[in-house]
Amino acid sequence: MKLTEYRINNKKFPGKYVFALVSDLHGNEPSEVIKMLENMKPDFILAPGDIFEPLDGTKNDINEAGFELLSACSRIAPTFFSAGNHEVGGIRSWSPKWRGMVKKKSYDAESMKKLADTGVCFLDDEFTLSHGIAFAGLCSGLINEGGVPKLDFLSDFCSCDAPKILLCHHPEYYKKYLRDMDIDLIVSGHAHGGQWRFFGRGVFAPGQGIFPKYTSGVHDNKLVISRGLKKGGTIPRIFNAPEVVKIIISPD
Ligand SMILES: [Fe+2]
Repeated sequence: MKLTEYRINNKKFPGKYVFALVSDLHGNEPSEVIKMLENMKPDFILAPGDIFEPLDGTKNDINEAGFELLSACSRIAPTFFSAGNHEVGGIRSWSPKWRGMVKKKSYDAESMKKLADTGVCFLDDEFTLSHGIAFAGLCSGLINEGGVPKLDFLSDFCSCDAPKILLCHHPEYYKKYLRDMDIDLIVSGHAHGGQWRFFGRGVFAPGQGIFPKYTSGVHDNKLVISRGLKKGGTIPRIFNAPEVVKIIISPD
């Protein structure tokens, strides 16, 4: 697990803020991540999805790792969480067979109670103001008709007179929907850094295909993509360590 640090200048922010970005835990044991967050002492923690498998009561065992991570996060700093494709049950996002399968969100009451007990703020196609910053969470649209996310609430969010931060699991939404919106920081995951990285580029990402553009790093001084926290998996990561991301934003 590595710690990656990025710096962003944005005059909308009245001072220096440290954000930790954690995504795509996918049931991995979280103690190393928690230690890194404790050492970092961020002002806020942002978790834009795939921390869990489906939150519908069918994956309770695997999801314990996610509850443990988010509980620790909210002890360290105010934490905001949004749902990725796995939380809403859109698991095989890479499979052409799966695409177009429209489902309803099926969060179960027990999972929602456990999520509330972690102390994190779950932003599910909604936004909130906290500490003078507007935080929004855009849920994965993978299970919606046409795979389109529910963007309507973003016009109210964008009219907020505060620095604006959007948690958006899918980095490919940036070019499609978000690039021209008045949002100061967008944090994403999902692409796992392109799974294999050669010459500074990822090889494949669901929703973007081969040699995807949005898998890691900072884009346009406002989109930050995490390569994710998951260590192993069916397809191994090559030259692509999982990471905790530290984002330092200051007005100059
Ligand atoms: Fe994902």
